[in-house]
Amino acid sequence: MFTQIKNFFHITVLMNLYSLRNFLTGNGAVWLKLNTNDLENMVEKTVSHKSLKLEGKNVLDLGCGTGTMLSYLTREEKCVPYGVDLIRLNIHQCRKKMKDGKFFRQDIINYLDETEKKFDLVILYGVIGCFTVDKQRVIIDKISNLLNSGGVLWIGANIYTDSSYKFQTYPVPKGFYEEICDADKSLELEEIYEKEIFGNVKYDSNQTSIFLSKSSE
Ligand SMILES: C[S@@+](CC[C@H](N)C(=O)[O-])C[C@H]1O[C@@H](n2cnc3c(N)ncnc32)[C@H](O)[C@@H]1O
Repeated sequence: MFTQIKNFFHITVLMNLYSLRNFLTGNGAVWLKLNTNDLENMVEKTVSHKSLKLEGKNVLDLGCGTGTMLSYLTREEKCVPYGVDLIRLNIHQCRKKMKDGKFFRQDIINYLDETEKKFDLVILYGVIGCFTVDKQRVIIDKISNLLNSGGVLWIGANIYTDSSYKFQTYPVPKGFYEEICDADKSLELEEIYEKEIFGNVKYDSNQTSIFLSKSSE
């Protein structure tokens, strides 16, 4: 019961408050402690770490917030941006930043069921933990089917159930991603501590980024 109330507060109330704050202040991150520079730094390092070539390629940000990462990738990498978020104000800001982008005010699972597009990078930064662990598995399975060969799914701000830090609404058990890759042999797992790859971690010092790469058979 306490968990349900906490999660409702986190997903429904807090996210809308951050969104309103961002609209008023210009902060591009739908987070308490992160800002535009933090998001741009992380997405830049991810592109470089995975040696991604995104020019003219479809990039999908699920739970895209105000589109800060997508806008960086559109500007610096010339990708084609797609974003999905539940909050109207976030989608409004995305459309203002990226006139040619495709933005959907929709639930992530519904979008994944309906889209016929394929992607070279799918971003879920601080988002998948809003779903129960069963649904997280469903979401990853659906994304696997939408990744182009050589494409990457990046799940950021991942923490596990044994973490003492409780910002994540539904943390996953250890071994969760290994199990997914055992069942779906087209996905290859890489996991990195965010303090190592991004340098500056403002939440759990043990939070990780998960990279699931689609094999190029
Ligand atoms: C912690 S914020 C992160 C936003 C963005 N990725 C960033 O780093 O700034 C989580 C975002 O996920 C969105 N979100 C949560 N549940 C969602 C759902 N079921 N469908 C679509 N968006 C969702 C929220 O509206 C919010 O913008």
